[in-house]
Amino acid sequence: MARIPQETIDRIHDTADILDVVSRHVDLKKRGRNFFGLCPFHNEKTPSFSVAPDKGIYHCFGCGNGGNAVNFIMEFEKISFVEAIQELGDQFGVPVEFTGSDDSKEFFTHLYEIHQLAADLYHETLFSNRGEEAKKYLLDRGLSEESLKLFKVGLAPAGSSHLWNAVKVKNYSQEVLEKSGLLGFSNNDIYDRFRSRIMFPIWNASGKIIAFGGRVFGTDDPAKYMNSPETPLYRKSEIFYGLNLTRDAIRKNECAIMVEGYTDLIQLFQAGIKNVVAVSGTAFTEKHVQQIRRFSSKVYLAYDGDSAGIKAALRAGYVLLKGGVDPHVIEIPDGMDPDDWIQKDGGAEFKSIGIEKASGLLRFHLKTAGFKDLSSSERSNVIKEILSEAAGIPDPIIRQGFIKTLAQVSGVEENQMVHMFSQQLRKKRSQPTSKESTKKPQLFTTVNAKAELGIIKVLAGDHGEAKELIREKLDMNRLENVQLKKLATLLMDKAHVNPAEIIAVFDSAEDREMVSRILMEEDDTTEPLQMAEECLKTISKVSIKEKIRSLRIKIREKEAADEDAIDLMMEVVQLQKGIND
Ligand code: CTP
Ligand code: MN
Repeated sequence: MARIPQETIDRIHDTADILDVVSRHVDLKKRGRNFFGLCPFHNEKTPSFSVAPDKGIYHCFGCGNGGNAVNFIMEFEKISFVEAIQELGDQFGVPVEFTGSDDSKEFFTHLYEIHQLAADLYHETLFSNRGEEAKKYLLDRGLSEESLKLFKVGLAPAGSSHLWNAVKVKNYSQEVLEKSGLLGFSNNDIYDRFRSRIMFPIWNASGKIIAFGGRVFGTDDPAKYMNSPETPLYRKSEIFYGLNLTRDAIRKNECAIMVEGYTDLIQLFQAGIKNVVAVSGTAFTEKHVQQIRRFSSKVYLAYDGDSAGIKAALRAGYVLLKGGVDPHVIEIPDGMDPDDWIQKDGGAEFKSIGIEKASGLLRFHLKTAGFKDLSSSERSNVIKEILSEAAGIPDPIIRQGFIKTLAQVSGVEENQMVHMFSQQLRKKRSQPTSKESTKKPQLFTTVNAKAELGIIKVLAGDHGEAKELIREKLDMNRLENVQLKKLATLLMDKAHVNPAEIIAVFDSAEDREMVSRILMEEDDTTEPLQMAEECLKTISKVSIKEKIRSLRIKIREKEAADEDAIDLMMEVVQLQKGIND
């Protein structure tokens, strides 16, 4: 395995100031020793996301996400450990070098490289003689040369080895070639996956090209669009086309316009409407909502004006609503998409008619269902359908507001609507979803679990005497919770605890959730010594109780065999006494 030396990782943990790292992305306010802000990982209105600069960790008391600076970057940017280390290394001036033979770093570097190389090549091709026709086609569609350059639009020509010729001299590993998604393989042949297509490079949030969308050009291939497959770089359900160029505008405008297509996005951007993102050919998912929510909590959907577009807008609208984003729908004149509309009427019209007159999701839903002309039974069906979506809104305040609006716009009395909703809920509950049934068990609810937790808190703190007491008295095997045991073992032989370092040992997000919470709360321990004593007592009681249980079994056996069990009984009595002291 190619590895980053532990020393480097440690240096990064030491230098990457959690406050620096987080406050680039989250607005933090100081409260006591810690800083608080709105959690970037779930939707909330009051801050439960906390950062402890002195401990080097963060934890959200709302959703549980937690960890050190490296974890934060991994989660926030959806990148791997190695990438996060590299990024923080760059940022804080710690050189990151690799040792060993594996090429996981090289693998990613090469994947990025091959995408950049392909984008350069396609782009050059579009602006060369070979691309003349394609370029003319794009300019005729109203895209400016400047836009083509900014979005690095390119051309994959008809031949099957245009890209491959440029790539093969680079000696990339077979794995890189295969995983890039840019080439096809048959027998011993390697060929270009994209041919006769206008190429739209797709960037990730940190501005690296990770995939392509290809629009057919110059052939009669029935597939109008072909995109890169999922690759180690390209996770479709998380990527928005254009976001790398439009995020600032989205923040500034406090809303995003969401379109379906590459050309829609470029056309809007070019018309000066820059707060725009495109989903481009994949289903709109909760992950998309998470992404967009970091930048704004209001989205205008500008999907095609045909029936497929309306359906897709409704679907996306409800996903947004459930994720806590306020969805509006821009009505595009029938038969057009945003690209066509801008070309026809210009950006000003798109703004004044499209954006200004956009409907809320509900109004849009009722309008497109032709609600006001429906019979009462048809109306009832539409309302039920909408209420079943409402049942999926987790935030009670949003849900309530939604039902209220539904009552208003549909002309149904509010009480009646609430009644229908509770019926709908009951129906939903009787068919439990897998999500509900796999609800996580509550942590630390038993006395014993609480005691184990208390032990950890003391060990994580800096009260020497209390820690010493635990070191002396605690029988590690008594700890039942596996993660707590691991944590206790780690903490035991540390004179000085570095929470960020400790958290780095836990690989799973679930473990980190627990550990970051414990470490974050460690300083509520007012009386560490007393706490240590009590927890040790509780834990030792567990062992006594176990002993009693096994004695009782023996007693029963003896009695069954008609033997004398008086000694054992005495022993039980003694032990009981110890517990009750
Ligand atoms: N799309 C895709 N894969 C498909 C179909 C569509 O990725 N098989 C995506 C593309 O991002 C495309 C968008 O969905 O831009 C909208 O599709 P469509 O309306 O068919 O294309 P337009 O963008 O309108 O393309 P054009 O105007 O060039 O015809
Ligand atoms: Mn179009």
